[in-house]
Amino acid sequence: MDLGGTMIKKATVITYGCQMNVNESAKIKKILENLGYELTENIEETDIAFLNTCTVREGAATQIYGKLGEIKRVREIRGTKIVVTGCFAQEQGQELIKKFNYIDIVMGNQNIGRIPEAIEEIENRTAKHVVMTDYEDELPPRIDADFESKKTASIAITYGCNNFCTYCIVPYVRGRERSVPMAELIEEARELVKKGYKEIILLGQNVNSYGKGLSEEENFANLLQNICDIEGDFIIRFVSPHPRDFTDDVIEVIAKNPKIARSLHIPLQSGSTRVLKLMNRGYSKEQYLALADKLKERIPGVSLTADIIVGFPQETEEDFQDTLDVVEKVGFETSFMFMYSIRQGTKAAVMDGQIDDEVKKDRLHRLMSLQNSISKKLSMGYEGKTERVLVEGPSKKNKDMLSSRTSTNKIVLFKGDASLEGQFVNVKINECKTWTLYGELVSE
Ligand code: SAH
Ligand code: SF4
Ligand code: F3S
Repeated sequence: MDLGGTMIKKATVITYGCQMNVNESAKIKKILENLGYELTENIEETDIAFLNTCTVREGAATQIYGKLGEIKRVREIRGTKIVVTGCFAQEQGQELIKKFNYIDIVMGNQNIGRIPEAIEEIENRTAKHVVMTDYEDELPPRIDADFESKKTASIAITYGCNNFCTYCIVPYVRGRERSVPMAELIEEARELVKKGYKEIILLGQNVNSYGKGLSEEENFANLLQNICDIEGDFIIRFVSPHPRDFTDDVIEVIAKNPKIARSLHIPLQSGSTRVLKLMNRGYSKEQYLALADKLKERIPGVSLTADIIVGFPQETEEDFQDTLDVVEKVGFETSFMFMYSIRQGTKAAVMDGQIDDEVKKDRLHRLMSLQNSISKKLSMGYEGKTERVLVEGPSKKNKDMLSSRTSTNKIVLFKGDASLEGQFVNVKINECKTWTLYGELVSE
């Protein structure tokens, strides 16, 4: 095809880390499309590659180094521009250019609105490298997003974090907590529902502290209620709440609104009160267990998940047993389990009593094996039940099947027509594996 001599430029955005990064990548993609770029997943054919990075654990950085090497080879062949954004970029800033001279642009989390400007500087060669990592703890300008899925969209309701859990780098790279005014969020949710999105995920490092600095009515419970009140068939999820801030009014709103997913992610981090104190988490083992009990009681059928760290400095075998005890007692549907990883600049990095890798690995394996057995047991509980699921599309592993999710976030595969994508349907569960359920479509 003759394009009149104009070559359409291609761009790739590779995302690491959490949902917040996924959300920001969707915004970056929209900006690139507005600049006339065509998006591609193939780095071999790309003219500009974005690495939207994470630095929450050491492994994140190692992954990024590997990817940088790969893109550098493409750059040598076709002059691909390389842009590093996200938390690792924010943390490293100028250092990244020193280490990897072939990076063109380093851009922090709050600066993605300035991508057009940065690209222009590089293209016109007014600058050899561009580094934009300054931030002022303000709300970023609102940017439209191009979500990968036509069913699931996310909205950042808060930016940054004030908690300073002693192991965590996030408050240092994402700045102080800021909340988006409630009216804006409701408007955004309304637009997404109108566009046909069926699942809306509210994002923040600590979503249930939403509203600090805003009016009294602008709190998390009211925000949830207002979004539930938007007309239409859709499901609301949110990550992550903090156990300490999980107030009764929020629980009541969830209990009376079936639009809110019956799956709550309640980061535990440790089951030992002593370690929780060292982590600056603001709750005890008993308080966490009491919260879990209350959630199960007030929200029948709720499924709980958690993040858990093993091998935090000074964690003894006894402390670790407390973690196993909480996992056992609560019965998490699944959990995200990590070995403690030193982050420079955090309090825990300089604590006495750092734990050997071997001990960490051993605890991680024991925790995982307990969690797996619990996940399996809970999964079996779905057998014979009929579940309302949101159809996500053809299963990646099994092309003949559709993949869908329950309100409790379990994956359900079943045979059905591709036209069901993006719809809520009822499926009777016939077979249960630990991570996947299999079923058949039933009429309402
Ligand atoms: N704000 C969210 C998510 C933070 S990062 C929350 O508080 O839940 C996601 C998870 O990474 C954390 O919940 C924690 O379990 C883990 N994590 C953070 N820093 C870590 C570190 N230094 N080492 C190991 N795991 C860590
Ligand atoms: Fe990190 Fe704690 Fe903030 Fe989560 S709440 S981002 S773990 S400091
Ligand atoms: Fe990683 Fe930043 Fe999210 S450090 S976990 S991408 S907030």
